[in-house]
Amino acid sequence: MRLDKFISKATELSRKESKKIMHAGEITVNDQVVKDPGLHVDVVNDDVMWAGEPLSVAAGNRYILLYKPEGFECTLKVKEYPIVTELIAVPELGSLRIAGRLDVDTTGALLMSDDGGWLHRVTSPKHEHAKVYELTLADAMDSDTQEKAVKKVSEGILLEGDYEPTKPAVLEFIDEKHARLTLEQGKYHQVKRMMGYFGNRVTELHRASIGHINLEGLEKGDSRFLTPEEVAKF
Ligand code: URA
Repeated sequence: MRLDKFISKATELSRKESKKIMHAGEITVNDQVVKDPGLHVDVVNDDVMWAGEPLSVAAGNRYILLYKPEGFECTLKVKEYPIVTELIAVPELGSLRIAGRLDVDTTGALLMSDDGGWLHRVTSPKHEHAKVYELTLADAMDSDTQEKAVKKVSEGILLEGDYEPTKPAVLEFIDEKHARLTLEQGKYHQVKRMMGYFGNRVTELHRASIGHINLEGLEKGDSRFLTPEEVAKF
């Protein structure tokens, strides 16, 4: 946030009045007198003082989209693999939570936030946000088997160890080994287990989108903040 905006928010002075106190040398950022109103301040980590008194503004919630590469784990604790938050350059990573984890070998759209209610809205099957997965299968499926699989997926599958079948979902084959699966829920290893039900194995898995959010404009490993409109649409 620009320094003049930060001061104005923290003190309720106008931007013009904020600039005046800056020019008078009354503002320090990390113990240095700063007179540049356009200086960018990190609202969480920078120490801004007015005549020796600390100023602060509420940081607000963060809503982040990451294009997860393979080889990263969706956990916030250090585990066997590098973790996804290592790819994101924002302060206070510890307060972020993940909406719908991806396996270490899965790539694609991953949403993170520190807004618990919003995370719940994104992941809860009640809200019916479609997640689109692109998958590669180990074994080719002929058109007869494909047709049966599409039908079964649209009806729901009782996966091993579950009490309820999966919600009706849409399976579309691109060719004998490639398909797109659209789910409105996120059970543990759901895509891989669903394909396992047909005696097959997923060798590559990519989440192309979550609701209205896709990866357009991002390279693997890139992240960006969601816009307020994107956040509100969930
Ligand atoms: N389903 C899976 O099996 N793995 C993922 O990473 C996501 C969905």
